[in-house]
Amino acid sequence: MTEYEKYIRTAELLALQKPRDAQVCHDELAFQVVHQVEELWMKLALQEVDLLVERIDADRLVEAMDVLKRLREILRLMAGQMVILETLSPRSYFTIRGALGRGSGQESPGFNQMLETRRPIRRALRDLFERRSVDLLALHRDPSADPEVFALTEALVDYDEGFQHFRYRHLALVRRIIGGRTPSLKGAPAELLEHGVRQSFFPELWQVREALFRDFTPGRPLFDDTDPPGAH
Ligand code: HEM
Repeated sequence: MTEYEKYIRTAELLALQKPRDAQVCHDELAFQVVHQVEELWMKLALQEVDLLVERIDADRLVEAMDVLKRLREILRLMAGQMVILETLSPRSYFTIRGALGRGSGQESPGFNQMLETRRPIRRALRDLFERRSVDLLALHRDPSADPEVFALTEALVDYDEGFQHFRYRHLALVRRIIGGRTPSLKGAPAELLEHGVRQSFFPELWQVREALFRDFTPGRPLFDDTDPPGAH
């Protein structure tokens, strides 16, 4: 065995997929590989989130943004990989689905832990705002008041949007393969996934935009310098 094989553990890794003679159809390998790769990306993302929280708590915001950059790229790849399964015919998935039993993506441990990442991140963000006396609306009216914190909140919007995009790409795949109204394996229609696409990790970071644009009424400047920051 080469050093590479030993380190990457290729033998174990490549034994994790069904052998050819056990596959229910040709496309089953693509289906299994994409799911396994997605789980690996989520494993990495979860470890990155721990580091992100640690860095926000330590006020190391520039380094926290480095972590968010990696997270955004992971989410981009996770969404992008859905195209591989868009090359499956509905008929192929019909065959694979028979082999899935009651298995469902809803049971993905990585995905369910990803959903939970919003809690520690929001807690760290709230503490950071407290430490730096940040009023979110005032900061959006004047990002130069604390450019580091502002940049961090924008990077968190990227993370949030990246996750929503992954869910949207999955929904588009589901519609394409099984249609919008086919009951899912758990009995719920795939259209219910739309609800998930609309969820956000950090609602306050989206609401502050609405609050800011409430000022945007005819005859009134968006940034009225006579208003003290945070007056709204
Ligand atoms: C042919 C491809 C796929 C089809 C037809 C499909 C279908 C579905 C359907 C119908 C659901 C709704 C719930 C259920 O039936 O259990 C679902 C949920 C889910 N699937 Fe897939 N899926 C596919 C690929 C993937 C891939 C590659 C991933 C990668 C992680 C994935 C992850 C999930 C997750 C995390 C959920 C729960 C989503 C939520 O609760 O918002 N699926 N999938």
